[in-house]
Amino acid sequence: MKKLLEDAETFYRPKLRPSGHDISRRFADNNGGAIPSNLLQIPNTESNTPYQRHCASVGVKPHPARFPEKLPTFFIEFLTDPGDTVLDIFAGSNTTGRAAEKLDRRWIAFEKDRAYLAASAFRFVDELPSEDLAALWSRLRSDDLPVKVNRLLREMVLREKASAYSAAPKRK
Ligand SMILES: C[S@@+](CC[C@H](N)C(=O)[O-])C[C@H]1O[C@@H](n2cnc3c(N)ncnc32)[C@H](O)[C@@H]1O
Repeated sequence: MKKLLEDAETFYRPKLRPSGHDISRRFADNNGGAIPSNLLQIPNTESNTPYQRHCASVGVKPHPARFPEKLPTFFIEFLTDPGDTVLDIFAGSNTTGRAAEKLDRRWIAFEKDRAYLAASAFRFVDELPSEDLAALWSRLRSDDLPVKVNRLLREMVLREKASAYSAAPKRK
């Protein structure tokens, strides 16, 4: 940045880049540094997410190399619009899918280890009795059942809503 400020003319040509960045003449204004760092500093300290709680409640080992959710969140917000589809081909515990869902994007997750994929469903469940979590886990974990994760989750969420509705005090 300092070199650019000294001699902007030879350092860059103002124009719209293919990435969509409009690198204008004002890029050479001295604002104390306009080139963002290419290092993202995000602590990996999540310790009480539904994923972690539900893994513990069912006795499943959480994925050992999870990303902090802020990492995919950064790239999804940067590179996509609501309604777009985000694909993670090494999804692990599907942090990316969870981040995409929160940002109103569609998502697709590929993961070769079915156990990781099964536990990733816990990211989409807020609170459920541990028997229900265990049942979800074992259905998703089963190798011979062609499972549609979304369908199973929808069933569970609907059941949860139905029981909350029937437990709510009726209006007169
Ligand atoms: C670093 S982990 C991803 C962690 C993920 N970002 C998260 O937050 O949970 C990489 C994942 O890629 C999976 N993997 C490796 N090779 C693969 C392949 N050929 N196809 C699909 N998944 C694969 C591994 O099983 C592992 O879970």
